[in-house]
Amino acid sequence: MIEEQLKKFIRDIPDFPQPGIVFKDITPLLQQPELVKLAVAEFVKKLEGVEIDVIAGIESRGFLFGFLLAQAMNKPFVPIRKQGKLPFHTISESYKLEYGQATIEMHEDAIQEGTKVLMHDDLLATGGTVVAASKLVEKLGGEIAAYSFVISLDFLQSAGRLTRFSDKIISLIHYD
Ligand code: PRP
Ligand code: ADE
Repeated sequence: MIEEQLKKFIRDIPDFPQPGIVFKDITPLLQQPELVKLAVAEFVKKLEGVEIDVIAGIESRGFLFGFLLAQAMNKPFVPIRKQGKLPFHTISESYKLEYGQATIEMHEDAIQEGTKVLMHDDLLATGGTVVAASKLVEKLGGEIAAYSFVISLDFLQSAGRLTRFSDKIISLIHYD
């Protein structure tokens, strides 16, 4: 089963970046090109039948699989970046995440009214990051077609925060 194969290359780092957080490190997985290809193919399979116009990925780890996925699906990629990094006119949202707070931004011309967006990130923890990213999409008149994550920390029970945008939530690895 692909989930078990992938899990072998996710490393737990206790107390990073702060005490009490067990950080799920995906860098060992990135060193397994064949597994990365399998993971991308699995995303594509799970998304079959979902109407998607663009894939949005969240800086920085959301760029890794997000861009590969966009290429595999032959769809445009839209970067959502931390404050002050995007060069053109932006819209922004502030949010809290499992270990801090941040502001993310999106180019105001990145999507148009009615655009169906696949929102991708490497990991779902509290959901603060993807909820903020989804609000950016909504502000521009887009809609969330689905979410995709490499990892979902299901014990934090945050998927419910996403269902007001979309109930199509795909994760390759779950931690209960
Ligand atoms: C991490 C991760 C997700 C987010 C998940 O990003 O890549 O984007 O936290 O946490 P949440 O569900 O509690 O919001 P981080 O801000 O650490 O940035 P990075 O990808 O640049 O490491
Ligand atoms: N982002 C938020 N929480 C995280 C965790 N526990 N591991 C890796 N990335 C994260």
